[in-house]
Amino acid sequence: MLARSCLRSARSVGPAARSVASRTATRSASTSSTTAEASSWKSTAAGSAATAIAIGSIAWYYQLLGREAHAMTPQEEGLHPTQYPWEHTKFYKTFDHQGLRRGFQVYREVCSSCHSLQRIPYRALVGTIMTVDEAKALAEENEYDGEPNDEGETEKRPGKLSDYIPSPYKNDEAARAANNGALPPDLSLIVKARHGGCDYVFNLLTGYPEEPPAGAVVQSGLNFNPYFPGTGIAMARVLYDGLVEYEDKTPATTSQMAKDVTEFLNWAAEPEADQRKKMGWKVMAIGGVLFALSVWVKRYKWSTIKTRKLVYNPPVSKADKNPSSARPGVRMEAEQNAGPS
Ligand code: HEC
Repeated sequence: MLARSCLRSARSVGPAARSVASRTATRSASTSSTTAEASSWKSTAAGSAATAIAIGSIAWYYQLLGREAHAMTPQEEGLHPTQYPWEHTKFYKTFDHQGLRRGFQVYREVCSSCHSLQRIPYRALVGTIMTVDEAKALAEENEYDGEPNDEGETEKRPGKLSDYIPSPYKNDEAARAANNGALPPDLSLIVKARHGGCDYVFNLLTGYPEEPPAGAVVQSGLNFNPYFPGTGIAMARVLYDGLVEYEDKTPATTSQMAKDVTEFLNWAAEPEADQRKKMGWKVMAIGGVLFALSVWVKRYKWSTIKTRKLVYNPPVSKADKNPSSARPGVRMEAEQNAGPS
């Protein structure tokens, strides 16, 4: 009896259970739709947050790094040097070697009493500025430490072509002591080391006014030069008309000497410049021919592929039913057109 009623109730429960199940299904469907709503809200929030963070970080980095920096004011940077059409910097021109010779003379007679030229050996002068014999004679004017003898003593020997041009001071401290605390920099690479290169060095040498402009504050021991950063430079004006006597009888005006020594210092910083330009021309000539050749070969090789026509014939219905009778497929035709498309 109990079993029967149980069965009956089970049977009566059956449809109800089914309907419950279906209702659950509906409900679960509706529940899933609310979940979808919730998750779409979340994803909107996450998306907005990500966008806000992205925009925020772009703004932060822009204000940090993106804006133009105005640290180098004329006061700090000095007056911008005038640009001159230097002949030797043109890519189809070389150094004017007569000018280099004059520039070296200016360096030797004027600048070398304060500035070193440590990276230039006498041998670099041979063939560019002077003959072997002249360079050897110049090297022998100075004494260098020789090899140590059996007692370990080094003796002085006259200079050789492989020696480097001697510095005016024993060390930086001695150089500072002799120049009121300021260190005259080594001039070997000065043209490359200064913003403005040749223009800067030329303007610096020729830019000393007769007296500082009204209102300019010049510390004692310094000289006013608008091209030098900070305008107060420890080096006084060194070039005056007629200071050296050129052997080729070029009038030694201040600007002529400044131009010559600047070109010489450019040579000192880039002794390979002439060779490099010559090599550059060869590279461009050979590279140009090879490039033209490679364009031609590419078009030649690709012309068959580029002018090929692909034709697709869709299968007809009869052939579909009986595939063995007719073969559907792709038919390829290579058509040689008059020229590459
Ligand atoms: C009496 C010593 C003396 C002579 C001669 C001299 N200078 Fe100087 N030079 C200095 C000193 C000192 C400084 C360092 C200036 C400073 O830092 O304020 C200097 C600095 C320079 C600078 C670097 C400026 C910079 O931007 O830092 C150049 C370039 C220069 N001299 C070129 C020359 C040339 C070229 C000659 C020869 C025509 C020459 N100097 C002759 C003492 C001299």
